[in-house]
Amino acid sequence: MSLRSKIAGIGMYVPKNVFTNNDLTKYMDTSDEWITERTGIKERRFADRSGETTTTMAVEASKIAIERAGITAQDIDFIVFATLSPDYYFPGCGVLLQRAMGMKDVGALDVRNQCSGFVYALSTADQFVRSGMYKNVLVVGSEKHSFGLDFSTRGRNVSVIFGDGAGAVVLQPTEEEDQGILSTHLHSNGNGAEILAMYNPGTHANHWIKDQKLADFDDAEIGEMFFSHAMIDNAQVFPFMDGPSVFKVAVEKFPAVIVESLEANNLKTTDLNLLVPHQANLRIAQFVQKKLQLRDDQVFNNIQKYGNTTAASIPIALCEAWEQGRVNRGDLVCLAAFGSGFTWASALLRW
Ligand code: UT7
Repeated sequence: MSLRSKIAGIGMYVPKNVFTNNDLTKYMDTSDEWITERTGIKERRFADRSGETTTTMAVEASKIAIERAGITAQDIDFIVFATLSPDYYFPGCGVLLQRAMGMKDVGALDVRNQCSGFVYALSTADQFVRSGMYKNVLVVGSEKHSFGLDFSTRGRNVSVIFGDGAGAVVLQPTEEEDQGILSTHLHSNGNGAEILAMYNPGTHANHWIKDQKLADFDDAEIGEMFFSHAMIDNAQVFPFMDGPSVFKVAVEKFPAVIVESLEANNLKTTDLNLLVPHQANLRIAQFVQKKLQLRDDQVFNNIQKYGNTTAASIPIALCEAWEQGRVNRGDLVCLAAFGSGFTWASALLRW
């Protein structure tokens, strides 16, 4: 049998600071009722403003994943780090993690695929393990969203959704016939790039934005400079999202990429022990569950507690599912994501 990769250890870290929906009402015109009804979210965690970064949270999650894999940081031979909220514009968080954990001078790759980031990172790591090039690959998703959101009423459609946290796994080779990542499926379509994006700072010079009908972004000054006072004054340094448009594509692509992974392995939805969808919105997950006719015990959601943690949401959810005994040796598990880009992706694995 050819080599496959398996998840040998998994860990997660969320900041201690809990922010409920009611806490957000102190900053913006919103309500627990609106947020719960539209998203399922009840609370999220926000990192300590100066004490925690995307990388420091990743370190905490990685320590646990490494320990559970029965190895040390010195054994890691490659890092794949997914985030949209890096400590620096450059260099990426991969090298900061390598330094913070005192690892050898191993390769570190940063993945910028937003909500699909973890599945893209896992797929990349899987190829390195399958090829025999690396034996202990650390795959991380981490986000400190709270530093880059507009917490005034103007930004409420975006800011109520997101939370901070990190998740990590260690991938190792396995030759067990009934174990490991069976396949991964990656997609993108850039036609929706501006529908969910943070434009600034950037080098776009309005090139892509000028023809888009984006209600909040009609100021001619956007993008004429890399960074300007006007951008700050006009709140153009925050993420933009046309939520309803994203929702419509998400509920189409999520089921499609899950079915694609099952069909590629001659399996059916009834074979699935657990679907761990990217935690974008509980309504999206429920729509997908209904469409695929999955039972409640076949789907894992924890967005209620953490909000949408983008690249971190799947490893956090998978870690909690594993800790709760919802994932056991031999189980068929599907990870699926959709988000900014648009990008969407799935991974099917036997635990
Ligand atoms: O993981 C990344 C991928 N992102 C997603 O998957 C997000 C997909 N989209 C969504 O989850 C939903 O579109 C949202 C949860 C973001 C929004 O829910 P919606 O049902 O699509 O609401 P909407 O944007 O159509 O807004 C409805 C109303 C508007 O007021 P009017 O125009 O009807 O008077 C908004 O201004 O709700 C208002 N609104 C809010 N009200 C209270 C928007 N945000 C808020 C808020 N609190 N936080």
